Amino acid sequence: MNNGACRYFYRRGTTVKKLIYAVFAIVIYALLSVRPALADASTDLTAQGAKIFSANCAACHQGGNNVVSANKNLKAAALKQYGMDSTDAIITQVTNGKGAMPAFKGRLKDEEIKAVAAYVLDQSAKDWKK
Ligand code: HEC
Repeated sequence: MNNGACRYFYRRGTTVKKLIYAVFAIVIYALLSVRPALADASTDLTAQGAKIFSANCAACHQGGNNVVSANKNLKAAALKQYGMDSTDAIITQVTNGKGAMPAFKGRLKDEEIKAVAAYVLDQSAKDWKK
């Protein structure tokens, strides 16, 4: 091999390396930017849920309590005791109502019920302190 060919391969080598670095940089950037996006999505949901809660639920459930049936409150222990410690269970109860609790089907959209359920679970995990 003469010098020219060596230089050619050397340069090609660095170009390939640069390409690999560029691809890595893009992958790392993509990974880093996806995470906050996911976190934002769930905070948005609970933030939306908070508004729905104060407009539709707080009259009876202010601070995670229950002014009608005190034991059926929205604190973690009660939710667990009554099998209400999942998004699905809360969605079902809010949609169809139960006992003295009105049904919200037709009053709230499915996504709004989902958001308020996420908010209730989030708050119960924080013991309604935030
Ligand atoms: C008119 C008062 C009233 C309103 C408004 C109300 N609830 Fe209720 N809620 C109740 C009563 C009463 C119960 C107990 C129902 C039962 O099991 O007999 C209850 C129970 C619950 C439970 C189950 C708690 C447990 O420990 O078993 C959840 C979750 C809940 N409500 C969420 C909501 C959400 C979310 C909203 C707003 C979309 C809402 N409620 C609006 C009165 C109300």
